[in-house]
Amino acid sequence: MTNTRLLTSVPEAAEMLRAGELVAFPTETVYGLGADATKPESVARIFESKGRPSFDPLIVHTHSINRVRGLVRDWPHAAQLLAERFWPGPLTLVLPKTDQIPDIVTAGLPGTGLRIPEHPVARDLLQQADIPVAAPSANPFSGISPTTAQHVLDGLGGRIDAVLDGGPTTVGLESTVVSLMEDQPSLLRPGGLPPEEIEAVVGPLRRVAVDPEQPDAAQPAPGMLSRHYAPGTQLTLCPWETELPAPPTDNSGLLTWGPTAAPAGYAAVERLSEDDCLVTCAANLFAAMRSLDSQDLDAIIAAGFPEQGLGIAMNDRLRRAASKEK
Ligand code: TXA
Ligand code: MG
Repeated sequence: MTNTRLLTSVPEAAEMLRAGELVAFPTETVYGLGADATKPESVARIFESKGRPSFDPLIVHTHSINRVRGLVRDWPHAAQLLAERFWPGPLTLVLPKTDQIPDIVTAGLPGTGLRIPEHPVARDLLQQADIPVAAPSANPFSGISPTTAQHVLDGLGGRIDAVLDGGPTTVGLESTVVSLMEDQPSLLRPGGLPPEEIEAVVGPLRRVAVDPEQPDAAQPAPGMLSRHYAPGTQLTLCPWETELPAPPTDNSGLLTWGPTAAPAGYAAVERLSEDDCLVTCAANLFAAMRSLDSQDLDAIIAAGFPEQGLGIAMNDRLRRAASKEK
């Protein structure tokens, strides 16, 4: 066990990262578990503390396009267009890596995921540390991503060196991951930046995003395991435009959104937003899943979203949470 420190000082957190320690920090998407991406031993501790399999690659975070360009072999025109338009922000680009990024970061793949986060605390931290920071979401493997410092402590307290508290995250969904390893950009993971916005800049994305019902071996994006974002309580997804069912037992929970009244009889109801605002829903989704999961319910029924904009990523997370495959 390690004594996990709760920090509010960015310089202290930056110093710890530079010293090779594991520091969780806020980004606008979710909290990340950071380590110096150039130190294989520090990166190895990320995998160990999360219980994450070593074939699941990590995203490298930096503070400027210049820094990113120093870490990649190739900078295609699409990278320039997307970086100018969406960085800093909830977009990760996969590009051919240089030797500065050790193989453990990319799970041996030739490409590395790169992101410049927008959260002011993350930007300060990355600037002051001035090293590339490898950071997965700061949760135990296959659990729900953390959107507050307390969520991080609940999952990884005693296993990591510090958490830098920057309040609740605003986007609430992980970044959208786009690979630029081939001529046509491909969508590896839907996330906090709607794919339609990316397509408006670089044209159609190849949709290789994964069907959670397919076996993992067949999946083109490593690390997109079917059962992920998973609460302990069994979750069932009720697709968009399908009527919400009556509670399956008298101790069931409902995860819903929008103005429609909940069917009677649910023991617990989490409403992500009172109106149809998907941005609000995304910001509240993971905290609401945690809250329902903590209430010892028999089952959770979740209302799905229209398959557009942020609804694409939210449906993806709910389908994974509902997947029974390990
Ligand atoms: O918003 C986010 O992306 C958060 C914050 C902390 O930045 N990070 C995050 O990391 O969600 P993580 O490790 O939980 O998810 C990263 C996923 C991997 O599982 C994989 O699907 C994809 O991004 N990925 C990362 N590097 C990749 C690479 N080199 N090639 C292909 N996919 C990659
Ligand atoms: Mg994750």
